[in-house]
Amino acid sequence: MTKKELFKEIHDIGVLPVVKIDDENNAIPLAKALNKGGISYIEITFRTDAAEGAIRKIANECPEIVVGAGTVINPSLAEKAVRAGASFIVSAGLNVETVKWCISNGIPVVPGIATPSEIELGLSLGLDVLKFFPAETLGGVSMLKALSGPFPKVKFIATGGIDMTNIQSYAKAPNVLAIGGSWMVKAELINGEKWEEIATLAAEARERFQGLEFAHVGINTPNESAALEVASALKNFSMKDKNGNSSIFMNTEIEVVKKIYKGGNGHLAFRCFDVERTLRYLSEKGFQVDDETFSYDARGTIKSCYLRQEIGGFAIHLIKTM
Ligand code: 3PG
Repeated sequence: MTKKELFKEIHDIGVLPVVKIDDENNAIPLAKALNKGGISYIEITFRTDAAEGAIRKIANECPEIVVGAGTVINPSLAEKAVRAGASFIVSAGLNVETVKWCISNGIPVVPGIATPSEIELGLSLGLDVLKFFPAETLGGVSMLKALSGPFPKVKFIATGGIDMTNIQSYAKAPNVLAIGGSWMVKAELINGEKWEEIATLAAEARERFQGLEFAHVGINTPNESAALEVASALKNFSMKDKNGNSSIFMNTEIEVVKKIYKGGNGHLAFRCFDVERTLRYLSEKGFQVDDETFSYDARGTIKSCYLRQEIGGFAIHLIKTM
């Protein structure tokens, strides 16, 4: 997997479990549980003696999971991790020698930073994906927003203090590639062999990361005068109309479309934080995108699209949360 492919995968999945493992024999069931919850990569930290063996087991026996090594504090530890089968290297801080070793060996590396100066050091080494750690202590999302001004091209994997209560504020931040966290892989869950619970926590994290929420229902009508008729009927229900070129919005919940467009009955629109990421999420559930329906914003980010499948005769419209 190239660095580009790895970072695309990390972006699309969005949630990176940061694991401290006490017993390497738990590595395989843990990896399988996370995979069942929809997570296809894992960071095993060098915070225990079992780390190396756990990386080796996952690399050898779980082709469906990409395993990386975390808390890699020097080049020899990076080498040990890669020999064991780690596909990427993460660290809490930025060690120039470790970064250089990884780059010269073609291993994706995500060192941790906490200040603008460290970001500049990362950039000078050719890195544009960095770990933002410890995220909550450093000011969380407002610090990330401040950093996006001087460093518009840098993406962060934010970790440290993130869980289900604040995951969505990070998921919304445009410079967050993904978040990392240990809440779904806590030592008591792993040592207690709570594999089902881990799978459920992983699935919930991914679901929450999408920020999916219902936006509006679209009603197809054959032409403008039919649309105006529907709109004037809906006004009796205390709805306010806003007449646009191709449709009339009634409050924000109903869109009366001035032609027979997608969907036998019309469409259901859902907002999500990142359309590309949510398309990946929905593809795992059997949905496919209608490639001809993409629209983009000025920066080239996907703004909306339709899915190929209908639900109850309604087309599904995905729109990026503003
Ligand atoms: C890390 O190294 O990324 C952290 O230990 C993860 O942070 P958390 O334990 O607060 O989730």
